[in-house]
Amino acid sequence: MSKTIQIILNSLMKLFDVMVRQLEHVFIRKSDEMIGLDIGTGFVKVAQVNRKGGQPVLTNLGRVAIPTGIMDDGYIIDVNGMTQTIRECLALSYAVGKEVVVGLSGCHVFSREITMPVMPKQELAEAVKWGLEEYVPYPVDSFYYDFDIIGSNEDGKTFELLLVAAPYEIVNPLIAAVTAAGLELVAIETEALASVRVLQKSKDSGASSGHFFVIDIGAKLSQLTIFQKGVPFYTRIVPVGGMHFTQVIMQVTGLDFNEADMLKSKKNAFLQSADFIGELSKVNQELKLLIVQLAFEGRQTLDSYITQNHQVMIDQVFLMGGGACLKNLLPELRHQMDLTIEMVNPLAFMSASTAFDPQFLERVIPQMAVAIGLALRGDA
Ligand SMILES: Nc1ncnc2c1ncn2[C@@H]1O[C@H](COP(=O)(O)OP(=O)(O)OP(=O)(O)O)[C@@H](O)[C@H]1O
Ligand SMILES: [Mg+2]
Repeated sequence: MSKTIQIILNSLMKLFDVMVRQLEHVFIRKSDEMIGLDIGTGFVKVAQVNRKGGQPVLTNLGRVAIPTGIMDDGYIIDVNGMTQTIRECLALSYAVGKEVVVGLSGCHVFSREITMPVMPKQELAEAVKWGLEEYVPYPVDSFYYDFDIIGSNEDGKTFELLLVAAPYEIVNPLIAAVTAAGLELVAIETEALASVRVLQKSKDSGASSGHFFVIDIGAKLSQLTIFQKGVPFYTRIVPVGGMHFTQVIMQVTGLDFNEADMLKSKKNAFLQSADFIGELSKVNQELKLLIVQLAFEGRQTLDSYITQNHQVMIDQVFLMGGGACLKNLLPELRHQMDLTIEMVNPLAFMSASTAFDPQFLERVIPQMAVAIGLALRGDA
């Protein structure tokens, strides 16, 4: 097994394991300049964090829309095109250095718990290997996998294992594009694991039990993740994202995609409760229907988790992702879900270079949160 793949598998295994994450804090090779690279379905995002003074400082940010034909359904189908897009994004951000941590969308990582009789680790590895066909829904020899012991039952007769798997089709083109862009891959990890580093209260040891609900509204989909004790526990994918908001504007106004996307980012009047007439009213009605769908799925995810987990309390609900930047979406979602929801803000606990325009930062931070979390690997 190559060193890179081993790094990836080791990283994947850290998905849910707080203990390992604490060890990682001690052992990770720390570079002064770490790049976080978040490749979504719509945008490539780069964030760079500098640790020279001890405390992490956000120094560089960049985002580039992924041209059509490069990704299909979350898969990179044009590696050269993706390499070019990553290069553009790096250049735009003025990022320096080569070391990079790359994010893997939750919808591309399969994980499940399995129970096995207690046995030596080597035998456990063999037993898992022989059971893969039963445990993992991907074809044989088409995925990377690894497992770790996450517990044992009270009588000491069985282990609880966490098995994780990611398809070659997802991971290999990602590695190829990143390395061809001249970057040195330090790790691949899930977006959820990266995002927990930018949730305020998880930094605030003792003040929170680490039970969060995070709504990440991306380009084509939204990821709803429940964190238990600061560890990603459950992710649900909802097919609503910023692209659908743009499509609503296109359909009602007749604008093309780019014009509608521009209008979406600029206009303040979307989703406001005032009674508009004509096109704006129609756009607002259609946008609200999408938010209602998102809110319904969110509420259902949260309620069923709370019921199944004996009324466990969720400390905070966070919103992030570029789609969440739609003006007035936050109050509308709060209203629809009848919940206190906060926009994620990594800058509440870390500083940013004074070279950034504060208004630019405010505008883009929700979209850059995963990239920043990736660049913070090793800090939390
Ligand atoms: N200021 C803004 N106002 C409204 N929408 C915005 C704004 N900035 C970005 N967006 C939208 O955010 C979306 C992209 O968000 P993001 O980069 O989080 O998605 P992604 O990570 O590529 O996708 P996914 O997570 O679904 O794979 C696009 O639809 C874009 O139009
Ligand atoms: Mg995303």
